Amino acid sequence: MATVQMRVRPADLSQVPKGAERIPDPGILVIFGASGDLTKRKLLPALYHLFQSNLLPEKFAIVGVARRPLGDEFAQDMREGIVEFGDVDKSDAKLDGFVSHISYFALNFDDPGHYAALKAELDRIAEEKNIGPDRLFYLATAPEFFAGIVQNLGAQGMAQPEKGRVAVVIEKPFGHDLDSARELNHQVNAVFQESQVFRIDHYLGKETVQNLLVFRFANGIFEPIWKRNYIDHVQITAAETIGVEGRGPFYEKAGALRDVVQNHMMELLALVALEPPSSFDSDSVRREKLKVWQAIPSIPILNTVRGQYGPGIVDGEHVIGYRDEDRVNPDSSTETYAALQLAIENWRWAGVPFFLRAGKRMKKRATEISIQFKQPPLLIFDRLATSGPCTEIQPNLLTIRIQPDEGIALRFGAKVPTTSEMAVCPVNMDFDYETAFGKSTANGYERLLLDAMLGDQTLFAHRDGVETNWALYTPVLQAWAAKKPQVFPNYFAGSWGPECADHLLEASGHAWRNDLGRPA
Ligand code: BG6
Repeated sequence: MATVQMRVRPADLSQVPKGAERIPDPGILVIFGASGDLTKRKLLPALYHLFQSNLLPEKFAIVGVARRPLGDEFAQDMREGIVEFGDVDKSDAKLDGFVSHISYFALNFDDPGHYAALKAELDRIAEEKNIGPDRLFYLATAPEFFAGIVQNLGAQGMAQPEKGRVAVVIEKPFGHDLDSARELNHQVNAVFQESQVFRIDHYLGKETVQNLLVFRFANGIFEPIWKRNYIDHVQITAAETIGVEGRGPFYEKAGALRDVVQNHMMELLALVALEPPSSFDSDSVRREKLKVWQAIPSIPILNTVRGQYGPGIVDGEHVIGYRDEDRVNPDSSTETYAALQLAIENWRWAGVPFFLRAGKRMKKRATEISIQFKQPPLLIFDRLATSGPCTEIQPNLLTIRIQPDEGIALRFGAKVPTTSEMAVCPVNMDFDYETAFGKSTANGYERLLLDAMLGDQTLFAHRDGVETNWALYTPVLQAWAAKKPQVFPNYFAGSWGPECADHLLEASGHAWRNDLGRPA
């Protein structure tokens, strides 16, 4: 399809407030599971970006906690992580200053005795650096340790101290089905009040995801047509080209539905579908999201598709199939691709199909939401070109590129300048983040870490939301577990997923959009 683009000009950011009013109070951030990948690749680079932007308080400490006996090498390792994954020059002037705030404490997560020593260490650091009593505990361990750590923090009086604000950030996966999520919620809420609990979904920290609310509710022209009367269907795709990246044992237990659909994609869906919140505060936004999820009827198994990649070619390179990945069962039934159709039964969305798909080792990396509008009631331009890209009038399409090439494009028909025929060609208005606002190095965690330090829960999952989504997906997971997939692997690495996923849409006369990314 030929498209003509109208790109936005760079925005004038000189008047944008720098957020100086959003600096947290002095405090200690304690990261459990600090020797893992997440800390080095995401958390520390994000904290450094906050530090660079003067968004951390003058007095703070970061204490990494894990089982390995590490010393100063931990801070040095974090320094390397910041340089490598944070797009930071290794001689950056502020780097040494930042690293001096990092220390390490070896602890066996299951040993209650170690927590008394941890408490003493945190008190010592706080006194030495004159930091005060605020603490943020970040659980970045394997999920089986979450409950034990929370319990031990509670037993040492670290969850409800007499002074200071204490909160806990819990990484995903939050449970592996409805029962386990309920139990974990119960264990966490026995120690921390819900207002202290920050269940993280890093998608909510992405600028483009936050912009969904701004796009819908800071503009007057989209909301009136944001409904069943004008929208034909919605597609949400989270396609990755990477495989399981050495996380075989984790992924074997998770699969695409648990790993990405039940959380990240449902957040995207909620932000597309929610009613206007009465204000941008945590309770209002979370309430509206919950109403969307509660309006989704159970998903018939016939409306779901699962897939697993075999060997193939991704970005010109031969790659192995899932079953050949390190520490993956050679006979694995774990899905690396999931697609489904669901409905939202409320006045705004009744009758509008929502199609979701997520997969690893797909043809292209692209997370996108596309909203296809209905055709005009009468097509009067019927003398179209007989060949080329303009032979049919395409419906309006709004595509929101969550990543990469972040932006928003609106497709509409335009008359091709020619005197011989009334040719209508699709063109795109394309807003592109980088052109408008410059390149961003943020990874989504900056905003979430800052909000957690400030006590703002707007961009975090609430227990009701987590349980509602598990209630929706647990029956699908159970049905899949009860019936082994007949033909796995069923898609080549580097393709758009299994063929049966196409049939899912064909039944209602639709097709997956595979020309994802910035309009050509
Ligand atoms: C994580 C999943 O939550 O999200 C990963 O566990 C996935 O499997 C990742 O690759 C995708 O995140 P992003 O930010 O790269 O889209």
